[in-house]
Amino acid sequence: MTDDVLLVHGGTPLEGEIRVRGAKNLVPKAMVAALLGSGPSRLRNVPDIRDVRVVRGLLQLHGVTVGPGDEAGELVLDPSHVESANVADIDAHAGSSRIPILFCGPLLHRLGHAFIPGLGGCEIGGRPIDFHFEVLRQFGAVIEKRPEGQYLEAPQRLRGCKVRLPYPSVGATEQVLLTAVLAEGVTELANAAVEPEIEDLICVLQKMGAIISMDTDRTIRITGVDRLGGYNHRALPDRLESASWASAALATKGNVYVRGASQREMMTFLNTYRKVGGAFDIDEQGIRFWHPGGDLSAIALETDVHPGFQTDWQQPLVVALTQASGLSIVHETVYESRLGFTSALNQMGAHIQLYRECLGGTPCRFGQRNFLHSAVVSGPTKLQGADLVIPDLRGGFSYLIAALAAEGTSHVHGIDLINRGYENFMEKLRALGANVELPAQATATA
Ligand code: EPU
Repeated sequence: MTDDVLLVHGGTPLEGEIRVRGAKNLVPKAMVAALLGSGPSRLRNVPDIRDVRVVRGLLQLHGVTVGPGDEAGELVLDPSHVESANVADIDAHAGSSRIPILFCGPLLHRLGHAFIPGLGGCEIGGRPIDFHFEVLRQFGAVIEKRPEGQYLEAPQRLRGCKVRLPYPSVGATEQVLLTAVLAEGVTELANAAVEPEIEDLICVLQKMGAIISMDTDRTIRITGVDRLGGYNHRALPDRLESASWASAALATKGNVYVRGASQREMMTFLNTYRKVGGAFDIDEQGIRFWHPGGDLSAIALETDVHPGFQTDWQQPLVVALTQASGLSIVHETVYESRLGFTSALNQMGAHIQLYRECLGGTPCRFGQRNFLHSAVVSGPTKLQGADLVIPDLRGGFSYLIAALAAEGTSHVHGIDLINRGYENFMEKLRALGANVELPAQATATA
């Protein structure tokens, strides 16, 4: 498909300003939360990305009206007439995103039943959903696996429960939150994820009337209420997209002002960026990131749950590490297969060796299980343009960065996948002076 290929002529530093809007990993979930309200909700700072469109479609299938609000990037979601959706219509969304799994609790509360299609999302590990179904069962849901998807029923009102997650999963924590708020009694969730997007979802639910407290030891307590109203909320900025552009600035020896980037959610990333040798300047409106000249430094990096170094920051930063002097060590502890993207970087000239061992002391579930989840990056290495096929969202953005930093032209295939989580990335690349073209345009101007 020629229209899914981007030609990237590398070697130009990215320079200029772009804006990030609300977080991809919060906005679709806040949209699902609107299902729980008895009145309309208003969500602001919504990016135009595919995950938002998928959830919007699923909400509309269930009778929620979703329309624009007064300002750009505002959605008004009205769940006054929630109804069952046709299974075939829901199934049309199979494989499109991971968010549909979060419809379980809200639909069980509103309708007494829910149908969840096969999930999509990036292939960066097995990504099972066992925690989700286990907690839903504890709330009293009955789950039946059918050929077309999962069918759930709540024979009576769901009841609060005491749950301990085997791992602080973001999605399973959100599942508990979205289910417990209207369940009968108190829910206590131990070993919960505490990512900033989860805190923001808790803020959304509190605005709706929920009672939720967070302890310092990853325990979240939710006291169920009988009724929730709508909310009016501005989504927190996308710290993952912000870090992607920051890494692009570093790898291309550029200078990018990310309007909307926020320090609070990015502290761990900013510390690491500084250790590598990247410079940044924070003001009220955003953060400027740049390469200050001279050599970048190799670092040891371990991904972890918040407040550790977020796994979604890892792939874009690894491209910058190929330009650092010495041996950088990367230990990925959240996903077992999030380093496969490095083989294409090696084809471009990078020296990255993968290991099955844990190269770091952070507790990790993958050390004894034969997964290539650690890397040693030896740099600096010159990168050459290549033919690249995008493997997943963040890996795909990393390939764009590598192509921009490389000498010569790269053909990046499958760029449509990037639209899943990066709003208007083509316009942003052009605004930063990137020399990119779609083949159709190349032909038109030839
Ligand atoms: N896990 C299980 N069983 C479960 C759920 C999770 O074993 O039932 C494991 C996963 O396999 C993984 C780990 O727990 O090894 C963490 O998964 P988590 O549930 O935290 O991830 P998620 O909710 O599926 C969200 C983001 C990811 C981000 C992770 C971690 C969304 C839509 N996705 O995924 O974002 O990497 O949390 O912070 O919110 C991305 O933006 O590119 C992306 C992949």
